[in-house]
Amino acid sequence: MEKTLILLKPDCVQRRLIGRIITRFEDKALTIVAMKLLQVTPELAKQHYVEHVEKPFYPGLEEFITGAPVVAMVLEGLEAIRVVREMLGKTNGLQAAPGTIRGDYSSSRQMNLVHASDGPAAAAREIELYFDSTELCGYEPVLTPWFRASDE
Ligand code: CMP
Repeated sequence: MEKTLILLKPDCVQRRLIGRIITRFEDKALTIVAMKLLQVTPELAKQHYVEHVEKPFYPGLEEFITGAPVVAMVLEGLEAIRVVREMLGKTNGLQAAPGTIRGDYSSSRQMNLVHASDGPAAAAREIELYFDSTELCGYEPVLTPWFRASDE
């Protein structure tokens, strides 16, 4: 089982797409183990996007990510990190394939609706950035036997 950090970004919240995007993750048998609406501060943005802080596009990215609330979630599932990244599609919505979340809903490189951790190290770091360990709710979804065989 893997956990991954998801942010439904300010464009997703403002465009009233929260429900539709969460539905796609639930339909894929990913389990929400933590979730909250919060306002990203400039300090949190710099910590989250530490590898982009020196890049020319960072000021615009910070203005965007702090411009309205985000929904932070931890999703759990088999190979969840890769599965979610593939569900999102390419970073730039204009290049993301139809059928992916960005391919279906985004026409922008910056306003690409959803952030997801890009690997196990990033997932661990980002989950800790947004959630206290007591906020993670471990539980066994009753539908698991209907989503996959016991040896998968
Ligand atoms: P995300 O996957 O959340 O992580 C970094 C974000 O920076 C990315 O989504 C885009 O929203 C944004 N981004 C990446 N490259 C660029 C760029 N060249 N110009 C503007 N924003 C970018």
